[in-house]
Amino acid sequence: MPRPPDPRPIIIDTDPGTDDAIALFLAFGTPGLDVRLVSVTGGNVGLAHTLANARALVGLAGRDMPVVAGADRPLLGGFAAETRVHGRDGLGGVRLPEGPPATPGVAADAIRAVLRAAGPQGVSLVGIGPATNLALALATEPALLDHVAEIVLMAGAWADGNVTPAAEFNAWSDPEALQILLSSGRPVTLATLEVAAQAVCTPARIAALRALGNGACLGAACAIMESVPPARRLGGAGHAEYDACALAWLAAPALFTTRPVHAEMDLGPGPSRGRTVIDRWGRNGRAPNARLLETLDADGFFALLGERLATLP
Ligand code: BDR
Ligand code: CA
Repeated sequence: MPRPPDPRPIIIDTDPGTDDAIALFLAFGTPGLDVRLVSVTGGNVGLAHTLANARALVGLAGRDMPVVAGADRPLLGGFAAETRVHGRDGLGGVRLPEGPPATPGVAADAIRAVLRAAGPQGVSLVGIGPATNLALALATEPALLDHVAEIVLMAGAWADGNVTPAAEFNAWSDPEALQILLSSGRPVTLATLEVAAQAVCTPARIAALRALGNGACLGAACAIMESVPPARRLGGAGHAEYDACALAWLAAPALFTTRPVHAEMDLGPGPSRGRTVIDRWGRNGRAPNARLLETLDADGFFALLGERLATLP
């Protein structure tokens, strides 16, 4: 899959979310990424909080792209938040100045409008929350798939999950929506739990980031990182910067090794609902439909974060 040239127009669909905040700042600090729209979904916390958080993060970074509200629940079933990691407000209790108002409208419409207006290089869709908004946009106007350069997602796991034994949170939150993206026919890149588990944010790494400057975004990022409890699945060493992995792939692909895979959702009602069935070894004989990010240069990743966040206000 050839990479589109920079600067690359992108849409970020997000549910901020502590790690979403870091991912947004990484995107805003990367000159090769032209963020045309921030579309917001309920996910880590309810939509009222994720929308306010997205607005605040955009405002703190001094950006003026539209921030548009989208789905407050998955395509099927009910909404469930993840307040254990992200706190009741989604940013671990870190208070930011109120951001600019949301742009009126609905995320799926706004996504389609940006795609429709795209030039020949198309637009990269970056999903770092439940996939509802992106799936709604593409399912309701499939002709716009021609305008999608690629789809980059933090979603899924090839081994065990983090919200159920089988499923990762974003994939579990709206499995039908994620399946729509996986079967879209457009190039999909997956940052799963396993690659994110290599991006371990430790107290020492936060201290090193803090030492890089006094900017409001860098300070907020460090405070947000400090609010996240260490993860048992990472041996208590720190927490994973899940969503920034998807943006780091766009900003610095040399940090990763990758593998073509076939990926599909378990949509059944049983205990493995929401599992991403990722065939890393070609066992099912089906053509790859995704690129899996497999390994990450963690020191390079945190150096990139520091370099890019230090450029923000
Ligand atoms: C994903 O779920 C959310 O809790 C995080 O923001 C990330 O997008 C990790 O499983
Ligand atoms: Ca997220």
